[in-house]
Amino acid sequence: MLDQKLIDSAPIPTHVAIIMDGNGRWAQQKHRPRLYGHKVGVESVQEIVEYASELGVKVLTLYAFSSENWKRPSTEVSGLMSLLKGYLLSELSKMLKNSVRLVSIGDIQKLPQDVREVLEKTIAETAGNDGLILNLALSYGGRSEIVQAVRKIASDVLAKRISLDEIDEKLITNHLYTSGLPEPDLLIRTGGEARLSNFLLWQASYAEIYFTDTMWPEFRREAFFRAIAEFQGRERRFGRTSAQLGSG
Ligand code: FPP
Repeated sequence: MLDQKLIDSAPIPTHVAIIMDGNGRWAQQKHRPRLYGHKVGVESVQEIVEYASELGVKVLTLYAFSSENWKRPSTEVSGLMSLLKGYLLSELSKMLKNSVRLVSIGDIQKLPQDVREVLEKTIAETAGNDGLILNLALSYGGRSEIVQAVRKIASDVLAKRISLDEIDEKLITNHLYTSGLPEPDLLIRTGGEARLSNFLLWQASYAEIYFTDTMWPEFRREAFFRAIAEFQGRERRFGRTSAQLGSG
């Protein structure tokens, strides 16, 4: 049983980012094809989006497809693309009802045209919503995100729109795909691995990182609750000492 009061008494993280790992292994353990794991993984997405929204999380970023995932067998890639499209089409009415705003980060030009069109349409139709921001990382890679930011900034310097000493952390932050979004407070990775896999490399500098062995298809309300409860028990010092934080 979830004791909701337990987490209601402390601040809920503003931005939660999740590496949804373990779909393939979970399916293989059950002697089912990997795509079955992704399909059940979509149910976890639905449940976590709903719960995050109820809890008052402001931004939920989900690593749905990395720039490296294009290297997977073409049947798995097309299966994932069709799950994504199906998810967007089936969830639009729920997003509108719950005031969820969809945004995305990544090189979405690489997505198949039909998927991109549904994505752009869902983004446009939910643009006026003021509830949870659901941010899907699609064809996303943290290093290439930084490369494209550096290119834009360099071209601004070359064209003398900005000077070298105007380049600071804020300017770089503002040139990333996540411009305008707060940094993640809590970064969760399911599936038992403990690495960042090119996810939000710049933005996660001060995120609390939570690794769990739970495979994504089994990561539901209770597992999310546990991650939030653990986050609330951690002390975020941002480089300061505990004593400094205590004195405000
Ligand atoms: C990692 O599991 C997961 C992915 C590469 C894709 C995640 C996609 C979904 C949950 C479904 C579609 C998304 C949305 C937003 C509708 P893995 O295949 O790497 O697992 P493994 O490490 O066990 O092989």
